[in-house]
Amino acid sequence: MEVVVVRTPDQATSIVADAYTRLLTGKPDAVLGLATGSTPLRVYRELVRRHREEGLSFARAQAFNLDEYVGLPAGHPELYRTFIEREFTSHVDFGRDAVHGPDGLADDLEQAATDYERQIVDAGGIDLQILGIGADGHLAFNMPMSSLTSRTRLKTLTTKTREDNARFFDGDLDQVPKHCLTQGLGTIMESRHAVMLGFGKNKAQAVAECVEGPIAARWPASILQMHQHATVVVDEDAASQLRFSTYYMDTFAGKPDWQGI
Ligand code: PGA
Repeated sequence: MEVVVVRTPDQATSIVADAYTRLLTGKPDAVLGLATGSTPLRVYRELVRRHREEGLSFARAQAFNLDEYVGLPAGHPELYRTFIEREFTSHVDFGRDAVHGPDGLADDLEQAATDYERQIVDAGGIDLQILGIGADGHLAFNMPMSSLTSRTRLKTLTTKTREDNARFFDGDLDQVPKHCLTQGLGTIMESRHAVMLGFGKNKAQAVAECVEGPIAARWPASILQMHQHATVVVDEDAASQLRFSTYYMDTFAGKPDWQGI
């Protein structure tokens, strides 16, 4: 696991956007894993800017969303499918049907989960998976105590996560769905490069537990310690409880510029 500690979220954004640029330049038909939440928004905005001003193209790429609410009506603005489209994919040049998400509206949710796993495999697997981290260490909607080898499935959201997300539902907890479909931790582990971002003091404990603590279902993102190529990019606040920050900074400073993450 590589840990990159930067001063501000903006510095993190350019490091992560550079990884997309490098990937899409070398592999224009790359498969991207997309996350919702507030953390990746800066990266999406920067990718849109690079598309408009620097010609970064997604025309041959595909994308797979990490998770989806269950129980929201079609067209609801907080459906993750809608969120990703509004915040990112509709502003760049993805082809028709190139952006996929778990079908939280399906009658048979178990089948929808199995189908989603197969779609990812059929696309060749995810090249670059962007991830946020929950204050309780959740990854996608894999809540504490999720199986570390889980696959896409139906999950119940914790009250804490529903409270955190109520800000997107007019602050009304009753409007926040209780269930979701989410890629499992085992699914995420098969991505070729996983990039987890964490910003702000309220992520500091989760970042420290998941990066430097033991691998445990209590802190789902800790499974990334076993990932073949995981990069954790955190600002100073989110890094404030890490014990080896100086070492991480020395390591990253010693890398040649062209290498990036
Ligand atoms: P946030 O959510 O980016 O809105 O902080 C992260 C998450 O819950 O995975």
